[in-house]
Amino acid sequence: MIKIEKLSKIFRTEEVETRALSEISLKINQGDFVSIMGPSGSGKSTLLNIIGLLDSASGGSYKLLDQEMAGAKEKVKSKARKENIGFIFQNFNLIDELSVFDNIELPLIYNHVPASDRKKKVNEIAAKLGISHRLKHFPQQLSGGQQQRVAVARALINDPKIILADEPTGNLDSKNGNEVMELLTDLHANGATILMVTHSDYDASFSQKTILMKDGVVLSEKLNHRNVDVLVTSKN
Ligand SMILES: Nc1ncnc2c1ncn2[C@@H]1O[C@H](COP(=O)(O)OP(=O)(O)OP(=O)(O)O)[C@@H](O)[C@H]1O
Ligand SMILES: [Mg+2]
Repeated sequence: MIKIEKLSKIFRTEEVETRALSEISLKINQGDFVSIMGPSGSGKSTLLNIIGLLDSASGGSYKLLDQEMAGAKEKVKSKARKENIGFIFQNFNLIDELSVFDNIELPLIYNHVPASDRKKKVNEIAAKLGISHRLKHFPQQLSGGQQQRVAVARALINDPKIILADEPTGNLDSKNGNEVMELLTDLHANGATILMVTHSDYDASFSQKTILMKDGVVLSEKLNHRNVDVLVTSKN
């Protein structure tokens, strides 16, 4: 589903050049739940932003569903992004001036879904995430946990093929963080492909595989135990 080969990213300002990613190669298959860990500045968000088509690589190849995205035109990338990717951010990234309903509805407007369908879809996803009674509220009137649930609803509303999450529990207390992780686990159990950046070993333990990054390269990839057990059991 995602195939990255020798992907590099260099940030250039007038004085400094930062090599954020150095010839990274990795593959994400449909239905995978993968976490990316590593110290601050190791390039995790840079990688996720490139995969999410919010930023471009400086070199190498990035294929999303067999289509080359490195060097693709902005129009091609934004179409691919709208059709395939749901993004969840650490700071929720909701629009404060819009109600919860309007925030969740936004990706549907971008995808030209008719108004009557939009209403139905927003109501359905809100019910699923337990935020139906908050649709008329504004983000600032909600707790952090509720805001992240709204952000998850917005990320899911277009039925994305892949969910990208950059420290989704980073601004949440452990109870709300756990709820978000349970939500992601449920989504994965229902077939979602998830790529999550995290600083938490506990959160990473929900995923099948952890990719460890350092200084813009992949140091290691390891399978996570609780899921190895599941895989072994399901084979017998
Ligand atoms: N827009 C930018 N301009 C210049 N340098 C940048 C930019 N974005 C990131 N960098 C640099 O690229 C490197 C990787 O940053 P990145 O945000 O990917 O790290 P990270 O692993 O997500 O860290 P954290 O865990 O703190 O979120 C860092 O050295 C950072 O300073
Ligand atoms: Mg980051």
